[in-house]
Amino acid sequence: MQLTVNGTPRDVDPSRSPTLLAALRDQLGLTGAKLGCDHGECGACTVRLDGDLVYACLTLTAAVEGAQVQTVEGLADGTTLHPVQQAFIAHDAAQCGYCTPGQLLAATALLEKNPHPTDDEIRAAMSGNLCRCGTYPKIITAIRAISDGAAAGGAAAGGAAAGGAAAGGAALSAGGAS
Ligand code: FES
Ligand code: FES
Repeated sequence: MQLTVNGTPRDVDPSRSPTLLAALRDQLGLTGAKLGCDHGECGACTVRLDGDLVYACLTLTAAVEGAQVQTVEGLADGTTLHPVQQAFIAHDAAQCGYCTPGQLLAATALLEKNPHPTDDEIRAAMSGNLCRCGTYPKIITAIRAISDGAAAGGAAAGGAAAGGAAAGGAALSAGGAS
C-alpha cells in the first residue's frame, strides 16, 4: 500500500508494521517520531495525518492507505528550519529531545489554526505531549515568541531565532535521539 510521507509517495507493507509508527521508523527509516508509552499517553509518536495530529503508536497502518503523513523530518524546507524549530532552538526548548518531534508538530498545528494563542490555549493544545525533562515553560516561551513575531510581521521571530539554528538544527529536524 502507498502513503504520501512528507510530500513523497512511499510504499509500506502493513503486514510487517501494523502501526504507522513502526512503518515510519522500521520501513521508511524516519526515526523522528518516537516510541514512548506505546499506549496513546505521551505524544512522543505524534505525526500529522491529513493535517490532523495523531498518535502513530495507535494508528493502524492498514487504515491510512493513501493518506498524507507529515513527520518532523518534513518540517524544514531544505536546509531552512521551520520557524517553530528555530524558536525551539532559540529558546532552548529541548533537553534530551525525545519528546521534541511530537512537540514541534503539535506546536506547528496549533499555530496554523491559532496564530496568536494565549498561554492557556498553548497549554491546552500541547497537553497531549508530555516532556519528562520538564521543558514546558520554554516550550510555551518558544510558541509565544512565534506568535509575537507573527504579530509584528513574522520575520522577527524567525530572524532572531536563526542564530541558533545552525548548531541545533540537525538534532531538532531529525528529532534528537533515535
Ligand atoms: S508512544 Fe504513542 S502516545 Fe506514547
Ligand atoms: S526534552 Fe526530554 S522528554 Fe522532553
